[in-house]
Amino acid sequence: MTHTNDPLDTTGQQSKGAHAKRDRAGKGEHSHESRSRSGKGLHRRKFLGGMAGVGFAAVGAATGTYALLTDGNTFKASAADTALNIPDLLEGTTADGTTTFTLTAKTGTAEVISGVTSTTAGYNGSLLGPTMKWTNGSTVLLNITNSLGADTSVHFHGAHIPPKMDGGPQNAFADGETWSPTFEIKDEAKTLWYHPHALGTTAEQVVHGLAGMIIVEDDSDASAALPSEYGVDDIPLILQCLAVDTSGDIKYNIAGYLTSGLTYPVLCNGTNVDATTLGFTATKKRTRFRVLNASPSDILTIQRGDGGTLTQVATDQGYLTEATEVTSIRLVAGARAEFVLDLEAAVTLQTVVTTGWIRGGSGTYDFLTVTPDASDTPDDLPSSLNTITRYDTADFAARTITLGQSGQLMTINGSAGTTMDSMATIMTTLDAEEIWTITNSTQLEHSFHLHDVPFQLIEINGEEPTGVDLGWFDTYEVVGGGSIKIAMKFTDFTDDTYMYMLHCHLLQHEDEGMMAALMVMDS
Ligand code: C2O
Ligand code: CU
Repeated sequence: MTHTNDPLDTTGQQSKGAHAKRDRAGKGEHSHESRSRSGKGLHRRKFLGGMAGVGFAAVGAATGTYALLTDGNTFKASAADTALNIPDLLEGTTADGTTTFTLTAKTGTAEVISGVTSTTAGYNGSLLGPTMKWTNGSTVLLNITNSLGADTSVHFHGAHIPPKMDGGPQNAFADGETWSPTFEIKDEAKTLWYHPHALGTTAEQVVHGLAGMIIVEDDSDASAALPSEYGVDDIPLILQCLAVDTSGDIKYNIAGYLTSGLTYPVLCNGTNVDATTLGFTATKKRTRFRVLNASPSDILTIQRGDGGTLTQVATDQGYLTEATEVTSIRLVAGARAEFVLDLEAAVTLQTVVTTGWIRGGSGTYDFLTVTPDASDTPDDLPSSLNTITRYDTADFAARTITLGQSGQLMTINGSAGTTMDSMATIMTTLDAEEIWTITNSTQLEHSFHLHDVPFQLIEINGEEPTGVDLGWFDTYEVVGGGSIKIAMKFTDFTDDTYMYMLHCHLLQHEDEGMMAALMVMDS
């Protein structure tokens, strides 16, 4: 078996070493409210005392200091023995054309590793958050209360909304306060997510559990044809690879990652799948899965255990032009994809963890066995799901974005964005059409994320994109020493005070300064 622990090895080789099995007995179930009180005080102090500040950017230099997954036990039995946890669907209340959702960010406890209680955080619960459904063309209002004991913000990752409502660092709000953004849903059908985005504390808050999914629905033919019954044939899969010490403390910065004796649980909807393959019984022959990589850093590749194909229907920013058979889906931190399975027999889904960065190794996890119990016959998928007009970038304004490193800070265009004042600011105007060359001058892996508008990939390391890379994205991998070219158009929203962000979605890098601001002004 092989493990990769060389952080410089960012080219994405995947080794399929047996993963570590840590605790056969535990089921990784969440603990509930009864336990959250004692955890609260503890975690409150932790949040208060733990303002991340500036950590060490030079994680790459730490080669060899990570605890490797050396126990190398054989694969667990793939028989499903714990049911997949499905995050609740958050019911909104609709009046006068506005749907109101209520969320509280709070601390709690959960068994992130089996048999050990971790202090965690969640929206309306102890870990993760409920799924929201937004409908294209409707208006939403969110009343979000901060009960974390520290500043937070809530960013709607991938949503095309005004900068003042975007939930970036300028929207941070204090413990005890309620933030109430409201906006029209201009996005078409896609899978978004929400998570904190205050300066310097994003990694800490996300890894403790502050993350939830948003499903945007629309009235397109593709949406009508695809499965859409939440929790029945439309299934969220929130995957996270974390770093946890033996006492259950979840790590989020360099000091934490260099602690000895760490384990690296992979969670699916909050349940550790190290020693457990989750089970889901599909009561419809065709099941749609929405996968979110909510990990702080690692790349997760989704595949079938039997080597078969997944029918991918969407990338980050909505439907592909047509359903596309793929053998794997590679998701960099922050990215999403949707696929369907037409099930004749049980299928086990695997995730392959790569980059060996936080996790300190690679491995393959059987995380979910989907067993059909259905007798229906789904219609063929429509031959066309979406029309994507490729940008003709001949007249697009060119810009260069350089992802760099300066000592212990991470930079964009030479500036470490650890404060609003220090970050690089990109100024553009409404309806500007731009082509950005994003160059990674480090040897580390980065996950480039742009707020506000979707982008098309024009080039990936000098090559023209093909296949699913012809879809719409908001988050994309930039390998060490590599580059991507992306094209976008800054439609609809301007603001001379509030800014969008562009940053690395490896959360530690973001907190260490790999973040810049984007200001869209009236032309
Ligand atoms: Cu998912 Cu700027 O973030
Ligand atoms: Cu990065």
